[in-house]
Amino acid sequence: MVKVTLQNLSKTFGGKTVIRDLTLEINEQEFFCILGYPGAGKTTLLRLIAGLEKQDKGDVYLDNKLVNNVHASHRDVAMIFQNLALYPNRTVFENMAFPLKVRKMPRTELRNRVQEVAKSLSIEHLLDRAIANLSGGEKQRVAIGRALVRRPQVFLMDEPLSNLDALLRLEMRVELKRLQRELGQTFIYATPDQLEAMSMGDRMATLSEGQLQQVDVPEVLYNKPKNQFVAGLLGSPAMNFMEGSCRQSDGRTLLDVGSFQIDITRFHKALERATGPELILGIRPEHIKVTRQRGPNSTCEVVVYVVEPLGGEMILHLGVDGGLIKAFAPPGFEAKYGDHVSVEFDPNRIYLFDKKTEEAIL
Ligand SMILES: Nc1ncnc2c1ncn2[C@@H]1O[C@H](COP(=O)(O)OP(=O)(O)OP(=O)(O)O)[C@@H](O)[C@H]1O
Ligand SMILES: [Mg+2]
Repeated sequence: MVKVTLQNLSKTFGGKTVIRDLTLEINEQEFFCILGYPGAGKTTLLRLIAGLEKQDKGDVYLDNKLVNNVHASHRDVAMIFQNLALYPNRTVFENMAFPLKVRKMPRTELRNRVQEVAKSLSIEHLLDRAIANLSGGEKQRVAIGRALVRRPQVFLMDEPLSNLDALLRLEMRVELKRLQRELGQTFIYATPDQLEAMSMGDRMATLSEGQLQQVDVPEVLYNKPKNQFVAGLLGSPAMNFMEGSCRQSDGRTLLDVGSFQIDITRFHKALERATGPELILGIRPEHIKVTRQRGPNSTCEVVVYVVEPLGGEMILHLGVDGGLIKAFAPPGFEAKYGDHVSVEFDPNRIYLFDKKTEEAIL
C-alpha cells in the first residue's frame, strides 16, 4: 500500500518533450486512471514510475521515498504491458512462476504462491496449458497473475484490456476493480477509453501531449471540465461545440451563435475574465431536447441529417447553421433525413469556453 508522488517530471525523446513538468499525487489503495489519446505519453509516464525509463528532470517518490536512482527491479512495482509480453511456448505455470524464479524463491514456496494466485483469478485449471492455446481473456488473466505473484506495492497497467473483444472487456473491467479492492493496493491504469477510465477510476487524470489537463474524481471531470479538451474527451457522443460571440443587450448578456441567440447572463461575472467576446458554446447531446414543434423555450430549428438507432435510444445528427450537432431523440420519436425539428438546450447545462485560451468560463 503505497502512495506515488511525481514532482515536476519531464522526459524528452530526441528533442521531443513527451512528459511536461508533470506533478501528481496518487493515494495509497487508489484505483487511478490516466486517460489520453494515443501518443499522449501514458506508457512513458508508467515506465517512468516503474523505473524502466529515466526522467530528464523531476522526482519520483514511492511512499515518500525518493526512488530516482532505484533500479526498476528494486522498486516493488509491477507493470502489465499493453501487449502482455507472455512467453507463448511456455505453460501458464512457467509464465507466472518466472518473476519468482528470477528472485530465486524456493520451489515449494514458489509453487504454493503461483497456485494461490491462479486460484484467485480462476485459472488454476489452466496451469499446465501453453499460452499459445489460451483465449484472449485467459491470457489477460495470466498476465495479471504474473504481476500478482510478486505481491508488489503498486500495479501499473498499460491498456491491459485493449486486445479483448467488447463483451470480455466489460467483464474484465468489473473483475479488475474487484481485484483491486480485494488486494487493497494502488493501481495506476492507463487507457485511451474514456468509459473505462470513468467507470473504473476512483480518480482520474487527463493527459494531452504529456501535460496533465485535469485531475479529479470522474464526476467532476464530466460535470466541470476545466477546458475544452477535457470537455470533448469525456462523454459519448462527445460534447457539441459551436462558435459564438457575446454582446450586451438591455442589461442581459447574449451569445450570438449563427442564426440564434442564447442568454448567458448567468455567466456575466465569469465573463469578465474572458480574453474577448469570441466564445465556444458547449452542450452535451444528453442535454438537448428535440421536439417536433417549436415551443416557447426552443433554442433553434434544425434539419435531421442522420438517424442513428442504438437499440434503446437513438442519436440524431442535426444540421444547424452549416454545422452538425448530435442529440438523443426522445422515446418513440420518429425522424427521417430532411425533417425540420426544433431543439431546446438545457440552459443550466450550457458550457462556455474562451475561444483563444480554450479555458472553461465557470
Ligand atoms: N523510446 C522512444 N523513443 C522515441 N520516442 C518515443 C519513445 N517512446 C515513446 N516515444 C514517443 O513519445 C510519445 C508518447 O508515447 P507513449 O507511448 O508514451 O504514448 P501513449 O499515450 O502510451 O500512446 P498509445 O495510446 O498509443 O499507447 C509518442 O510520440 C512516441 O512516439
Ligand atoms: Mg501506450
